[in-house]
Amino acid sequence: MSSSPTSSSSSGAPSAASNNPTTVFVFGASGDLAKKKTFPALFALFRSNLLPTHTRIVGYARSAMTPAELRERLSKFIRTPTDQDKKTLDEFFKIISYVHGQYDSDEDVIKLAKAAAEVEKKCAQPSSDCATDRVFYLALPPSVFIPISQQIKRHLTDNAGYKRLIVEKPFGKDLASSTELADALAANFAESEIYRIDHYLGKEMVKNLLILRFANVFFGAVWNRQFINNVQITFKEPFGVEGRGGYFDEYGIIRDVMQNHLMQILAIVAMDRPVDLSAEAIRDEKVKVLKSIPHLTVHDVIVGQYTRSGDGKVVGYLELDDVPKDSITPTFAQAVLHIKNERWDGVPFILKCGKAMPDRKAEIRIQFQDVAGNIFPHDLARNELVIRVQPDEAVYIKLMNKKPGLSTETVISELDLSYKQRYGGDYIPDAYEALILDVLRGDHANFVRSDELDVAWRIFTPMLHELERAKHKPEPYEFGSRGPSSADEQLKRHGGFTR
Ligand code: NDP
Ligand code: BG6
Repeated sequence: MSSSPTSSSSSGAPSAASNNPTTVFVFGASGDLAKKKTFPALFALFRSNLLPTHTRIVGYARSAMTPAELRERLSKFIRTPTDQDKKTLDEFFKIISYVHGQYDSDEDVIKLAKAAAEVEKKCAQPSSDCATDRVFYLALPPSVFIPISQQIKRHLTDNAGYKRLIVEKPFGKDLASSTELADALAANFAESEIYRIDHYLGKEMVKNLLILRFANVFFGAVWNRQFINNVQITFKEPFGVEGRGGYFDEYGIIRDVMQNHLMQILAIVAMDRPVDLSAEAIRDEKVKVLKSIPHLTVHDVIVGQYTRSGDGKVVGYLELDDVPKDSITPTFAQAVLHIKNERWDGVPFILKCGKAMPDRKAEIRIQFQDVAGNIFPHDLARNELVIRVQPDEAVYIKLMNKKPGLSTETVISELDLSYKQRYGGDYIPDAYEALILDVLRGDHANFVRSDELDVAWRIFTPMLHELERAKHKPEPYEFGSRGPSSADEQLKRHGGFTR
């Protein structure tokens, strides 16, 4: 399928999905992701008329809930600033129904199948012959992925339309468990039917990377080891893991953020130009570059764990109720990767992610080489290209400029493309909105292919196992601080610097 990663329409303008009657099943409809992301994204698409006209949404989970209870639960997370939005929300809830049952029970999923057939009958177009397309969104913990995918295959896929399965990360905990999950899903769904969400691929600035790189001649010219000194990809959050300690302690920050979100960004920053914008061409290039990265060892990584805040007000990781008191799970990690190919050999890619940091930020910072043979009286700062993914999307270039006036003093200045200033109130969709629309259009470009996952796990698994085998203790850092000081030292050792 040939489709653009930014939009499936040939003009580049947003296009609605096909107009076949469509049922979207949300498994885990009672959960956190469903209320915060899945349903709000479906509402945004509904409001923009981007859902197929005859769409029905069927929520499913074990919790018993009346439609009113479901509505109350979901409404808190759906923004309706205008009266028109409120009316649209009323219309939106008319297309939603809810069934409760177990994820591994034939009887319960048959009940769901019957309920879905009922709502589909009501909305089928006279001419459509009930060829309802079905999307199955697994907003569930990974422990349930396999049983529910088997149930879906058994009882919900005898419809005539397409079947698409959306799976949320984490896709396993290491290479072996990821392969096991991949095999179990492959037993019931073809790769072309599986959409593995890494929501960073739906973020506006991550989608913009392809355009910045391949639609601008000057970036293309300098995008290599001759001009680039190092690449820093950073993710920071100013909060800890309160309420998610159980999940987080099993995974840790490397599996939660670095192996997926940051590696996906790295792959797009580092890959060669795809032959076209088709999903397979893009993903082929991502796999190719990931295959050139040797696996990490413990010597390539710094890990940290946050402790109580300096003012004593916020508890440390080990003080959380659902975290074992002797946990060695990292809440901060920084790793240095190398890409052994002609373009990147010798350029460190420094990935950094942390919970309980001073601020929220995700950015890509490309530091260029120093100017050779400086003729100016002062040291020159390196040129940097910064792509700020969040908050406040921006692209800016740090360059040396003449300080205005009669002197020839140099000053670091920015060529600044801040989205708020440049595009004013232009709507930036949430990542989930963009990704669900991609699924409805059948566009895989912003989803993770099975072999991509495989290579990413090959890079991380030996280091993760080594850390666990050696019971490697993470370095403590105070909640709200910059993280372990050895991370800055590691950055300096690899030629990077921070301001
Ligand atoms: P939740 O813990 O909220 O679980 C979702 C639903 O699954 C729950 O409401 C519950 O519904 C059911 N459930 C929970 N635990 C179990 C269990 N042990 N066995 C069977 N059913 C269970 O998860 P999230 O919504 O936070 O996350 C869902 C998926 O999305 C996960 O894979 C997560 O990693 C991923 N994700 C979540 C993000 C978020 O912001 N929350 C962000 C990115 C990814 P009931 O009891 O009613 O059946
Ligand atoms: C999720 C992680 O995948 O991404 C969370 O599980 C993290 O730990 C979240 O907080 C960050 O997403 P965003 O879109 O808020 O940057």
